[in-house]
Amino acid sequence: MSREYRVGILGATGAVGEELIKLLSQRNFPVSELKLLASERSAGKTIEFKGDRIVVEATRPDSFKGLDIVFASAGGSTSKQWAKTIVDSGAVIIDNSSAFRMDPDTPLVIPEVNPEDARNHKGLIANPNCTTILMCVAVYPLHKVNPIKRIVVSTYQSASGAGARAMEELERQAADLLAGKDANPQCFPYPIAFNLFLHNTPLDDAGYCQEEMKMVNEARKMMHIPDLRLTATCVRVPVLRAHAEAVNIEFERPFDMAEAKEIIANAPGATLIDDWQANRFPMPLDVSGEDDVAVGRIRQDISHPNCLDLWLCGDQIRKGAALNAVQIGELLIQEDLVRVPQLAGMA
Ligand code: A2P
Repeated sequence: MSREYRVGILGATGAVGEELIKLLSQRNFPVSELKLLASERSAGKTIEFKGDRIVVEATRPDSFKGLDIVFASAGGSTSKQWAKTIVDSGAVIIDNSSAFRMDPDTPLVIPEVNPEDARNHKGLIANPNCTTILMCVAVYPLHKVNPIKRIVVSTYQSASGAGARAMEELERQAADLLAGKDANPQCFPYPIAFNLFLHNTPLDDAGYCQEEMKMVNEARKMMHIPDLRLTATCVRVPVLRAHAEAVNIEFERPFDMAEAKEIIANAPGATLIDDWQANRFPMPLDVSGEDDVAVGRIRQDISHPNCLDLWLCGDQIRKGAALNAVQIGELLIQEDLVRVPQLAGMA
């Protein structure tokens, strides 16, 4: 019988945690035991998994004992707090936070882009930023054919990127505003319903927010293009769970548009929606709850012979977070990498 794994989810009650639970079931991930961990607030809640109701536990130092794989999606400070405990207890962490992504010893992996990087893990693999995952799934197959020199990207990011409570805030605010009540923002600094605003992570001295610099640094690391020139403008929009991005890409050479479309149509994890007659291109609603990144409006940039424009949408909770994490877990299983190297060496 093939091996099954004892799996933990840290942040099981969040938007990504809930999707992780669904995906483990839907994809028949070989789970022998599932441990659901969150904060004190959620201790005692139950969540359904494959017909059983599992009790959520508050996270404690001994919570990870005996686990093989921990999916962490409870924010950077929680990941930092528990990472060493988890690895010391012998489990591999697939961490959805930004805490370790740029650590040179931590692989940052999109299975469709750089699966080989997972082989060097030391017990922790970082799951990339959602916006960056969606962009890289679409642009990396083009890069393999015609190297990318520069990217200019504008994002339209859903509420889900700020967590389950932010999604509830969008729904509640829309209803309240339509009923003539105040928006009363709590998760976001400004009203999100019937509005949009620039991503509100702190700005650096050059005026880029953290989300924009994640796109720069993480895309360079994963696509192995250390000198990639990339500039991003990240915007939060009143959409529930799927991000959209307008991407302008400069290549080394001009790209034949038919070839570019063919590459996207055949790319793993991407679907082409590019109906020029019907003026029908990807929308967040097309991809909500779906696995693939939808790409369309692929066209020659009329301002530069080596540039192409495209538009993409992807489910932020799924491919942008939980699905990519589960795919990393599947990759580790396929390649027999579910082990913490230091402990394996000591055995
Ligand atoms: P809880 O629901 O008990 O607060 P989201 O990103 O959707 O807001 O979800 C965040 C997830 O991280 C939730 O499951 C949340 O649990 C969990 N979480 C937040 N803080 C902690 C913490 N200090 N320890 C463990 N889990 C945490």
